Amino acid sequence: TTITFIHPDNRSETVEAEDGATVMLAALTHGVDGIVAECGGNAVCATCHVYVDDAWTSKLEPVSDDEDALLDGTAAERRPNSRLSCQIKVQPALAGLVVRIPDRQS
Ligand code: FES
Repeated sequence: TTITFIHPDNRSETVEAEDGATVMLAALTHGVDGIVAECGGNAVCATCHVYVDDAWTSKLEPVSDDEDALLDGTAAERRPNSRLSCQIKVQPALAGLVVRIPDRQS
């Protein structure tokens, strides 16, 4: 499943992510920088923050209460399309997903 990451300087990287992994893990696996993921995907650090492209926001699982609380503490400003990339599961239905990486994670 292809996922495109767009960096704050508009550089983009498209990777082939494994289904069942998370978007956070796909970034780490493919050396996409800007996603720190200090907690390793346990939804406690908020350093895997991304902005999901508007075309995709409605296709994702809703934000859980835990994710919502963490998103209030992101280093970069929280926006309506803010998500934690460790909570987005890669699946065929998300082929072509575009996420933007914020300018800082801590
Ligand atoms: Fe820590 Fe996502 S990796 S909250």
